[in-house]
Amino acid sequence: MIGTITVNPSIDQLILVRGLVKDDANRAVSVLHYPGGKGINVSKVVRELGGGTHAFALLGGRPGELLAELLRGLDVPLTAIAVKGHTRINTIVTDLKDGTQTRISAPGPVISRSEMDEFERKVLSWRPRPFIWALGGSLSEKMTPAAYCRLVRAVQKKGTPCVLDTDGEALRRGIEARPFLIKPNEYEVTRLIGRSISALEDYLGVAKGLVKKGIKIVVVSLGARGALFVSEREAFHVSVPQVAVRSKVGAGDSLIGGFVLALSRRKGLEEAARIGMAASVSAVMRESPRLCLRRDLPGILPKLRVRALW
Ligand SMILES: Nc1ncnc2c1ncn2[C@@H]1O[C@H](COP(=O)(O)OP(=O)(O)OP(=O)(O)O)[C@@H](O)[C@H]1O
Ligand SMILES: [Mg+2]
Repeated sequence: MIGTITVNPSIDQLILVRGLVKDDANRAVSVLHYPGGKGINVSKVVRELGGGTHAFALLGGRPGELLAELLRGLDVPLTAIAVKGHTRINTIVTDLKDGTQTRISAPGPVISRSEMDEFERKVLSWRPRPFIWALGGSLSEKMTPAAYCRLVRAVQKKGTPCVLDTDGEALRRGIEARPFLIKPNEYEVTRLIGRSISALEDYLGVAKGLVKKGIKIVVVSLGARGALFVSEREAFHVSVPQVAVRSKVGAGDSLIGGFVLALSRRKGLEEAARIGMAASVSAVMRESPRLCLRRDLPGILPKLRVRALW
C-alpha cells in the first residue's frame, strides 16, 4: 500500500475558454472541479494503476468537504485531519485556441502547530504501515520550511521510507532528513543548486552528490528529455517518445505513483522506472483532470529507451 501525505491540498477549478482575453469578460466553455495536491495526485495514479493507497490530508471548511467528496468519487480512501482554515481553490485556465494553460495557485490556510502535530501523530500511528509514504507539494501559509524535514525524519525513524517531492527551501531542508527518494524537475534542481544547468552529465553530477548525502534514489525529471535515475549502484537515463502534449499537470506525480507502486510490487529499479515513466508519458497525453490511464501503458513501454550511465 502506498500512503500519501498532502499538507496543502486544493480543489482545482479547471476552466476551459476559447481565446482568453485579458481585461475583458470571458465566457467559459466548461468548468470542472477536481482534487489536487501532489500526495493526492500520487494516490489517484496508484488507484488508476490498480494499487492500494491511502491519502492523508489537512482539510478545512466547505472546500475541504467538497474535496473529501470528490476523492470518495474516485475511490481514494482518505483520512482527513480537520483544520480551522479553508482548503484552497486553485484555478487553471486552459485556452482551447492556443493550447496554453494558465495556473493561479492560492496560498492555502494557515495551519497551527497543534493541527500539524495531530496530523503527524495520525500518520505515525497509521496501521498497517504503508510500503512508502509520498509527501509533497507546497507547504501551507506560514508553515516553517523545515516542516517536511521534521515529518520525513519522524516517519523514517519508524521504519517507513519517504518520497519527498517539493521545491525551494522546503526541498533544501527536507533533504537534510535524507528521504528515501526525491524527484526534482529541472527547475527544482536549478533552485536547489542556485544555478541553471542543462547537460545530462551536469544533472547526473548533482544526482550523484545527493545520493552521496544519503538519499537512496534520486530521480531528475527533465520533461520531454525523459528522466535520470540514480542510486548507489545504478545510474541510467530513460528517454521518452515524442507525443502530442495535452496537459502536463501531474506528469511528475504520475512518474512517482507508477514508480513507487512498481517498487512495492518488488520490481527492480529499472523496471519500476519504466513503469513510472510510461505513467508520466500517459499523463501528458491525456487532458486534465485525467492524470495517467492504465490502458496507455502497454503501448508506451516498448517506446522507452534506457541507457546506463555508469
Ligand atoms: N513533452 C513531453 N513528452 C513526453 N513526456 C513528457 C513530456 N513532458 C513530461 N513528460 C514525462 O513526464 C515526466 C515528468 O515531467 P516533468 O519533468 O515536467 O515533471 P514535473 O515538472 O515534476 O511535473 P508536475 O507538474 O507533476 O510537478 C518526464 O520525466 C517525462 O517522462
Ligand atoms: Mg513536479
